[in-house]
This record gives sequence, C-alpha cells and structure tokens, in this order.
Amino acid sequence: MCGIIGCFSREGCYEKLMEGLARLEYRGYDSAGVALLSEGGIAVRKRRGGVNALAGPPLAGQTGIGHTRWATHGRPSDANAHPHAAGKFALVHNGIVENHAALRRELEGQGAVFASETDSEVVVQLIARLYRGDFFAAVSAACARLQGSFALAVLCADRPGEIVCARRKSPLVAAAGGGALFVCSDVPALAGLAEYVCPAADGEFVRIAGGRVFFCDGEGKEIAKVFSRLPEGSRAETGGGTFMEREIAAVPRALADTLAGLRGLDFAPCARALRAAKRVFAVACGTAYHAALAFKDAAEREADVTVLCHTSSAFRDRAPRIGQGDLVVAVSQSGETADTLEAARLAKSGGAYLLSVTNAPHSSLAALADFGIAMRAGAEVAVAATKSYNCQLLCLYALAAQLAFFRHARFPAWYRSLGALVPAAREAFSAFPAVQALAARLAGAKGMYFIGRGQDAVTAAEGALKVREIAYRFAESCPAGELKHGTLALVEEGFPVLALATERALAQKCENALAEVKARGGYAVLFSQYEEVLSASCADAAIRLPAVPEPLMPAVAVIPLQELACSLCLLSGYDPDRPRNLAKSVTVE
Ligand code: F6R
Repeated sequence: MCGIIGCFSREGCYEKLMEGLARLEYRGYDSAGVALLSEGGIAVRKRRGGVNALAGPPLAGQTGIGHTRWATHGRPSDANAHPHAAGKFALVHNGIVENHAALRRELEGQGAVFASETDSEVVVQLIARLYRGDFFAAVSAACARLQGSFALAVLCADRPGEIVCARRKSPLVAAAGGGALFVCSDVPALAGLAEYVCPAADGEFVRIAGGRVFFCDGEGKEIAKVFSRLPEGSRAETGGGTFMEREIAAVPRALADTLAGLRGLDFAPCARALRAAKRVFAVACGTAYHAALAFKDAAEREADVTVLCHTSSAFRDRAPRIGQGDLVVAVSQSGETADTLEAARLAKSGGAYLLSVTNAPHSSLAALADFGIAMRAGAEVAVAATKSYNCQLLCLYALAAQLAFFRHARFPAWYRSLGALVPAAREAFSAFPAVQALAARLAGAKGMYFIGRGQDAVTAAEGALKVREIAYRFAESCPAGELKHGTLALVEEGFPVLALATERALAQKCENALAEVKARGGYAVLFSQYEEVLSASCADAAIRLPAVPEPLMPAVAVIPLQELACSLCLLSGYDPDRPRNLAKSVTVE
C-alpha cells in the first residue's frame, strides 16, 4: 500500500528523495508528496496524482520525507495527500490508525483544526499536542496511543538533520549509502541509492540524528543492529515496454536464478519439521494463494500428505487450532502482505513451525519464519504478479519434493527436471504472436471463463485473476468438470471459454467440456502441450505450450495467460503496471 521514505544527505536530499519516491510508486499512486526541512522551516509539496505531479523547482534541505499514497481514509486529493503537518511537525504514514475517530474527536475538543479526512493527520496532530521540547519523546508517546498498524516518519522544525520513525506491523527498513541515510517502506526502492540495509522489527523506532541512523525502543534506548549489503536483484527490470512486459520477459532468468538458489539451499534445518509434521497448512493471498494451491496438489500427490490450503484472511478469520507439530507454509512475494503476516504470527504463536517462501529476504515474513525459501525473481514492480508466480511454483515444487524425500525417502521423478523449466519458459514466448492475436479477438468481450481439470484448475484461476486485475474484464475460472453444474448457463453466442489441458489423462474430459461450450455457440480456446490434443480438439483457437514433465506444467502454462492479460490490457489502452484501485504489497487489512 502506501510507500514512505525519509532521507538525510548533507548535499541536500531532494533528488534522492524523489528518486526513491518514484521507485516506491508501485505501492500506491493516487497522490504523492514530500516535506523538506531547512533553516527556513519545513516546506511541504503534495498533490493528487503520481510522483510526476510533484514536478517543480527542487526544495532545499538536508532532511526530508516523502510518500506515495493508496487511499484508505479519504479520497485521493491534494489535502489528503501526505505529508501532513501540524505545529512544528510533518509526517508520512503507511498503515491504518484504527482509533483515529476517537483521537480526532479528542484533539478537536482541544482546539485542533484538521486539514484532511485522513487517519494519518491524527498522528501528527497528536505529536504536536504532546511535544514538550523532546522530539523523540513526543513521537513515542503518540505511538503509544495508536491502535492499528503504522510505519511513520516525522520531521520536527526544531531538529534539523533528524527524522524519527516508528514501526508497528507496517514494513520499515533503515539504510545507508552514497553519503546518505535512509528510512523506507521497502528495499527495492533503495536499489541504486543505498548500499546497506537493516529492517526494523515490530515495535522498534528508527532515528536519523547526528549524521547516523540507528534503532531504539520506545524509551529511546538504542538497540544494536547489523546492517547487511542490499541484496543483488533488488533492481527493477530494465528495457523497453511496461514493467509487466519486462517482468514476463524476465521469467526464464528469474527461474534460472531461483533454481541456482534452490540448488545451494540446505533443507536439513527444517528436515524434522518436514518429516514429522502432523498437519501441513499453506497460507497466502491472491496470486500467491494460487501458488499455494499448486503446492497442495503437488505435495498431496508426491508426499502423500494432506495440505490444508487457506487464503490468509480465511485462516485468520477461523484461526484453526494450530499447535506444535504443525507446519505452516506462508507464501508471499513481498513478504509484507498484512493478512499473510498475521496468519504467520498466528501460526508461530500457536507453536507451529513456520516456513516462508518470499521474494524479499529482508521482509517481515522472512524475519518471522523458522526456515525460508528465497525466490530470486528480482524486484517485481508491476502490480500484477508474473515472474514471482513462476518462481513461487518452482520453490514450492522443490518443497513438495523435499517433503516426499523426508517422509518417504524418495524424490519425485520430475525432481531432476526442474531445470527444464528455464528453456521451456523461453520457448513459451514463441506462442506470443498467437496469444496477441487471441487478445485482439477477445478485445471486444466483456467477460470470459477459464477452465481446467486437476492442476489446470489452478492455472485457470490465475489466468482469470490476471485478466480481472489489469484488463478490467469479468473473468472467472471454473473447474472444467463443474461447468455443466451451473456456469454453462452463462455461455452464449461468442462467449469466450479458455481451457487448459496439460494432464494427458484428463485432456479428453476437458475437450468434452469445450465441446459443450461450442455446442452453445461459445468461442472455445485450448492450451496444451500435446499435439494430438490440440489437433483433435473442436476449439476455435489452439495455443501450443512447451512440454516439461506434466506435474511442472503449471509454471509454463501460465506464461501465455500472463501475456494474454497484458495484451488485452494494452489493447484496451490501460496501464498494466498501475491497475486502478490496486497497489502492490497489501500492507493493510
Ligand atoms: C495478483 C497480485 C496479488 C498478490 C497478493 C499477494 O497479480 O499481485 O493478488 O499476489 O496481493 O501478494 P504477496 O505475494 O506479496 O503476499
């Protein structure tokens, strides 16, 4: 959701702040703002719109904070944009202050006048009220009164060169490099700006003061920390086109890097948990949830273990009785998704063994986990997850194989073929001209269905999610076997139904479902790696997929669907990197 950044640089921080802010934009892009502290006081520039909307002469100052917004409380507007100011203070905030209404009433009762509708302004007004000359003490005292989640960065006109930051649940890292000190919502935004980074733990404060950046508790007592080098691969994909196009193009590279990481990963530390787990849970949201479903399928088939797969929010709502001896696998590209983090905390507090699969080694989820599997997809900037999904699948196939090994002393037959995913992903690109032609054919469609059986049901769900997310078409998925139990009623002349058939044993049944679609005038499209399936089918269009061992096909079959959604989006004149109403990293509930 929102992105926050703070910077101190003796040469002036404006340029660095703006650069970081531009990289943070994928966390929210409905408004942006900066505040810089100089001898003249605090200057604020904030506007509705993207970071570009802030264009203007550079603001002077060595110390500054910035924000990109994804609106929660109060519509996108200049007034609701951060930073918010009160008295001698300016503040940027990511998170949700749950008791903002009560605090606002209290502060208004004391004479405070609010300029925005946001929950965040309450915090800066509170700090201004509590200030008795000690900047840190005022921020700490204000935080103690807040309920909800926050990462915030505050400037005080009395304290040049200082930024006070606090973290509860929402992500925050400190960093240094290039003669500057930083605080930021995430690591990728700092690529090229900083060299060393250290995440703040929940409840910690970060301070920039006296030319250094350090951590402390609510009393101001310093906490010793070790900074590490900014991880390689934190940079966004370069090249032409949109980020989403570049990230799809990077799938083979991302898979190769992830595979190299997996080959060097020693599973011994989690062997006991894998061998002895009484129950295995998998939790995740959105695209990562689809990866978790694919894991369930692979693990149940190969390791003969039941995997209970929940969306993170459902896991929280029902809070299944988790205990010692349970293994919880939490999957998250960002490692900062609020629901997944809460599900992971629930699992840990219940005594379960927590295993994470993330693309962010400095994330909150990675810090919480007993054992982590790192994807090496590289920074993913486009809001719609693409290359990270392929890498999640790869990591989870490796995990399913390890589960099989530790429980039954055998690896699945396909385990040695994981490397085949890299050339197959590259080969999948050769279907793109046909996929783009299909997108042009579907451009006029208001909606479409994706169907599949077995493992293809998950790929169908992911394809539909991509189309909804960036092409704004009604797109749903339906297990092919369920079509005639209701959904077929939607099929009328020209209605597109896209079927995946990557399991030979189930292909005929999938074709039968397509035949039923055709018989009702629907527009039928088939995706398969099997020539005989494609040629025998009654489909109006057929897309050939590259072949890898069948159980690995979801990691390949999804690539044309990612491209289809991207093409549909571009043909419709939308921006695939910034879909309306969405933002990457859902760090609020
Ligand atoms: C879809 C998408 C989202 C994310 C979901 C989880 O393209 O990007 O559905 O997959 O918000 O995010 P992470 O994986 O960061 O926990």
